[in-house]
Amino acid sequence: MTTASDLLFSPFALGPLSLPNRVVMAPLTRCRAAEGNVLTELNALYYEQRASAGFIISEATQVSPQGVGYLRTPGIHTDAQVEGWRLVTEAVQRAGGRIFAQLWHVGRSSHVSFQPGRQAPVSSSAVRIRTGHRYTAEGPQPYSTPRALDTDEVPGVVAQFEEGARRAKAAGFDGIELHAANGYIIDQFLRDGVNQRTDRYGGSIQNRARFLLEIVDAVNGVFGADRVGVRLSPLSDFNDMSDSNPKELFSHVADELSARKVVYLHVVEPLSGQALDAPERVTPLLRERFRGALIVNGGYTLETAEQALRAGAADLVSFGVPFLANPDLPERLSRRAPLNAPDVSTFYSEGPRGYIDYPRLGEAQVAAAAAQLSA
Ligand SMILES: Cc1cc2nc3c(=O)[nH]c(=O)nc-3n(C[C@H](O)[C@H](O)[C@H](O)COP(=O)(O)O)c2cc1C
Repeated sequence: MTTASDLLFSPFALGPLSLPNRVVMAPLTRCRAAEGNVLTELNALYYEQRASAGFIISEATQVSPQGVGYLRTPGIHTDAQVEGWRLVTEAVQRAGGRIFAQLWHVGRSSHVSFQPGRQAPVSSSAVRIRTGHRYTAEGPQPYSTPRALDTDEVPGVVAQFEEGARRAKAAGFDGIELHAANGYIIDQFLRDGVNQRTDRYGGSIQNRARFLLEIVDAVNGVFGADRVGVRLSPLSDFNDMSDSNPKELFSHVADELSARKVVYLHVVEPLSGQALDAPERVTPLLRERFRGALIVNGGYTLETAEQALRAGAADLVSFGVPFLANPDLPERLSRRAPLNAPDVSTFYSEGPRGYIDYPRLGEAQVAAAAAQLSA
């Protein structure tokens, strides 16, 4: 049983930001962008409701038209998209919160129908995702076979992230997180289950990490390293990902990110019943190698989050589904109050239902009492 002096509800200095607690809102794609992949007041309200997080990491947002792979997901490459995001950042900051933009390019995890001129999506190598389907305006479709970027095209994609950082700054974000997890383009360069290149971006671990590190250098130049974080998922097989030696690869990545002084590393590695320091886990190695803040994610509860902080295994814990269903998650956790149950059927649906209508604590109790009275 944790106590009222829980570490989870103690402040933390993240670079120049003072976080009131260590309950981070994990990035959550919700597919509620309007025409032109632009966010609106509806999305601003959703984020504002969650402003009591230590800080919020936005849903993944595309840095270019080439980076798009999902319906109704926001971008940050047009002026209208920047204005939409400004509604969000202002609402969160007005409510006393802080928000980072998760910058995203899906790479091969796309379909020609999303690509300008129906061209092939781009990736490190021409290796198609075979598992599952991509949901498109034309219905579910097999993934398209990607085209491997030429060596001299890679700096152009790095520049897309740099421009995304510039626009995120213009939109009022407190910082950015590079989405280098879950099998999207940066991960497609990192892991050798996909990357079969023979140029300076493929082969050795140093070469496969080069794309990420060039992006880090570029966005650090825009925001300053103390406002740049990186998300990694070393063992996730989502999007058909794999690597022959994840411990060595991600240890190198952690060393290099540490040298570049990025403010945090955000590691997706579900606990799934393992001890925090189980030998098969990669997170403990990253903790050893990385000198900035470590955020852990994946199925954490009040108890396991507190345990991780007490053990010194992490500085912050991010919550995805619990935050989606509980706008006042930090308060609920600190009071040991029951949590709202998530409604999976509305995770990616359209409109306000299952988005901005999850009750806060007092509202939930009133609703439950009313339901009992009418029963
Ligand atoms: C609806 C939904 C959308 C998600 N969207 C993103 C995303 O945009 N970017 C990302 O890095 N991870 C995304 N994830 C993964 C979550 O950030 C998180 O890693 C996962 O939910 C596990 O954490 P949890 O057990 O606390 O929910 C998403 C997960 C869900 C359920």
